[in-house]
Amino acid sequence: MDDKISLVAQQLVKGGRNVVFTGAGISTESGIPDFRSKGGIWDKYRPVYFDEFMSSKDARIEYWKQKAELYPDLVNARPNPAHMSVAGLYETGLIEAVITQNIDGLHQESGIPDENVIELHGNTLRARCVTCGKAASLHEIHRRIEKGDLAPECECGGYIKSDTISFGQAMPEDELERATELARNSDFFMVVGSTLLVHPAAAMPAHAKENGSFLVIVNLSETPYDNVSDVLIRGKAGAVLPEISKEVRCLSMDVPQTIK
Ligand code: APR
Repeated sequence: MDDKISLVAQQLVKGGRNVVFTGAGISTESGIPDFRSKGGIWDKYRPVYFDEFMSSKDARIEYWKQKAELYPDLVNARPNPAHMSVAGLYETGLIEAVITQNIDGLHQESGIPDENVIELHGNTLRARCVTCGKAASLHEIHRRIEKGDLAPECECGGYIKSDTISFGQAMPEDELERATELARNSDFFMVVGSTLLVHPAAAMPAHAKENGSFLVIVNLSETPYDNVSDVLIRGKAGAVLPEISKEVRCLSMDVPQTIK
């Protein structure tokens, strides 16, 4: 493992265009379940597809029931050592941006500016009307649900939905374009905590690799890109990322102690 950590750190300090790509696995140590591990979200719930949400009140009730059950984990979650290590590398200028599939806002809470966290699947801390686009306070929405308004609607009559991308819903074009450009032009692309199964997000490592990027995967289980990665670390993000940060500090002794 040490050789792998050292190899990753050496690539990072080369100072090329370094990009980090994250999935739900970076947030499990913050208490937010991932989707496909045993006991994960898709073990408990069936995903509500966008067309179901738009055509069926029962589907909207089921959608908000799932969101309400996951809400306490979300509001209690704080960035963990993996998020803080990525933020530390960003602060020292060694990471250009984070592309994330996560909707929990923890990369922003760790200190990375909004403009350099590319949220491919939106952010569940925000809600808005799907018709007029009016933003709604998530706290207010959950209060309404607690009082029995199980599928909240906007004053305009539109359906209120969390600001996330459901299966079957169009991806955010600007974010997808920016993420693809970052991946295609990266020199170093590190995947942390994703099964890399859901496209088009899961194509990002391919865009990076096709253009000669050094591909690192830090993940507890297998991904379709394991055999094309330059470094594959089977480990917990909360342990591995701080090790990488520590090794970067050793390699570039003048790096300010802002790396966490
Ligand atoms: N450290 C490293 N890896 C971890 C950790 C951890 N502490 N915890 C879990 N993992 C790994 C799991 O082994 C799994 O391979 O993270 C991966 C999480 O994969 P998924 O649950 O599939 O999550 P993700 O890849 O982000 O899913 C992509 O699918 O359902 C949609 O929109 C949803 O954004 C999500 C997308």
